[in-house]
Amino acid sequence: MFDDPFAMRIIGQDAAAATESKADGRVSSSFRAFMAVRSRYSEDELATAVSRGVRQYVVLGAGLDTFAWRNPYPELRVFEVDFPATQHWKRQRVANVGMGHPESLTFAPVDFESQTLAEGLIAAGFDPQEPAYFSWLGVTMYLTREAFESSVGFIGKLTSGGGVTFDYAVERSELGIFERVALDHLARKVASVGEPFQLFFRQAELADTMRRLGFAELEDVGRDELNTRYLAGRTDGLKLRGGIGRLMRARR
Ligand SMILES: C[S@@+](CC[C@H](N)C(=O)[O-])C[C@H]1O[C@@H](n2cnc3c(N)ncnc32)[C@H](O)[C@@H]1O
Repeated sequence: MFDDPFAMRIIGQDAAAATESKADGRVSSSFRAFMAVRSRYSEDELATAVSRGVRQYVVLGAGLDTFAWRNPYPELRVFEVDFPATQHWKRQRVANVGMGHPESLTFAPVDFESQTLAEGLIAAGFDPQEPAYFSWLGVTMYLTREAFESSVGFIGKLTSGGGVTFDYAVERSELGIFERVALDHLARKVASVGEPFQLFFRQAELADTMRRLGFAELEDVGRDELNTRYLAGRTDGLKLRGGIGRLMRARR
């Protein structure tokens, strides 16, 4: 489903060993599957964008994303945007494990809450006149609505041909009882490390927002579509079990 030969290397030996020794319960296996599926879904959309002529890829809130080290497209420029302290930490990790710096990669430190994406990207050499594809995985739920709309609004005003893919957390009132319990559990866990979830969407409301911000073509997919598309026929039982997170793909 998603082959990332750099994943274990970039997290380092200690973290890799801890990951391997952890018991893999149903909830954590579903959560892990969602992380792999969202990257597969987004990189499939990137491939479509590249085939339509896009030559700029922006990874928003990149964390330890490794696409830049796996980039198979010779003409594609990659921009990694992240919270400055996280990006600094990643750059140190990359240096420590000897992964080097791909020529096509540019780092752009930006705090979505206090800076604009436009400023940070343009300062890093991004060309706003050329189409670009953006991924934004595992980030929107940590932001304020203002920061979310400011960044998506910037992408929505760019030249047509590009777009954005992101995952989002579903508003509690749209979840079933078991999903609410799982959400509360997860919310407590992330809040306890100082990064609380704060942004949730109802599907219809998100679609309205995306259209208002300039996107013409939307796809919003959840557990059932993703299980059918990427996880059908597996013999190891790996599948998405809850509906807390969904994926939005929006094209300009
Ligand atoms: C859960 S990680 C996701 C990493 C990666 N995209 C992935 O799919 O695994 C969340 C990322 O969002 C970034 N982030 C959170 N709040 C941010 C903000 N206000 N400005 C910029 N980045 C932010 C963090 O620095 C981190 O890299």
